Amino acid sequence: MPYYQRVRFDILTIFPEFFASPLAHGVLKRAIASNLVEVLTHDLRAFTHDRHRTVDDRPFGGGEGMVLKPGPIYDCFQTLDIAPKPARNTAKETVILLSAQGRSFTQTISHDLAACDRVVLLCGRYEGIDERINTLLCDRELSIGDYVLSGGELAAAVVLDAVVRLLPGVLGNPDSSRNESFSPEASQSSINTAALTKDGVPDSTHLSGGLLDYPHYTRPAEFLGLEVPEVLQNGDHLAIRKWRRQQALAKTWRNRPDLLARAALTREDRDFLATLDNLEKQNTTHNPSS
Ligand code: 6GU
Repeated sequence: MPYYQRVRFDILTIFPEFFASPLAHGVLKRAIASNLVEVLTHDLRAFTHDRHRTVDDRPFGGGEGMVLKPGPIYDCFQTLDIAPKPARNTAKETVILLSAQGRSFTQTISHDLAACDRVVLLCGRYEGIDERINTLLCDRELSIGDYVLSGGELAAAVVLDAVVRLLPGVLGNPDSSRNESFSPEASQSSINTAALTKDGVPDSTHLSGGLLDYPHYTRPAEFLGLEVPEVLQNGDHLAIRKWRRQQALAKTWRNRPDLLARAALTREDRDFLATLDNLEKQNTTHNPSS
């Protein structure tokens, strides 16, 4: 049911050299070396025919900046042997345009892509790409966040990293889902008991619909006068789990309250969050400046 196949990525870009560094470090480097993923970059300039290797042109209708021409992208694409659009799902192949106008890239989409045999990432540049490429070739348009990058290359590297670390064998997890104990399916359902441990404490932190992670500590036990929280040093594993859950709840409440609406929360979680709300109310009534 999950993904147990090597994924092939094809990255279409005018800056193929950009990917040398991300591909040569850490998890990605090891995944490639172990043959768990294949990443091919394609230089769009190799598909131009003029002396200046022109990949862009002025926008019809006027306006700022330049637009990537459709021809070189289309010609490059034809060399990839990707299934025609209607057969993409069955073939487990997908073609993605990276642009600031895309839908938000999420952990759920990471899992979708990790289940594909092939993923094509088309990096937009300049003010955009000719929309007919999107219409003719692409299955979806994705953005990595609400800010503007000067090109899709950084976003493609982000997507690549997020997907590859999910592939079985890459992080030393045989079954592909050790970290993200909330599978996308489980976290999207409204009632979720699957992620409860035997103590009834939800096992989940992390973003696939769960909470932000709890804080981590390592040695030394005291650093610049700051002690590692006592509870983590006492070996009471139930107490540790409870403390971590509350820390995750508190961090999510403070940094990403939007996630709480979709998180799987126990009665105990809700009570704890209510105490945080009440503490804040007290503080703001006594201290109007904050
Ligand atoms: Cl995928 N591309 C560009 N150009 N800007 C972005 C983005 C992508 N995601 C967020 N901002």
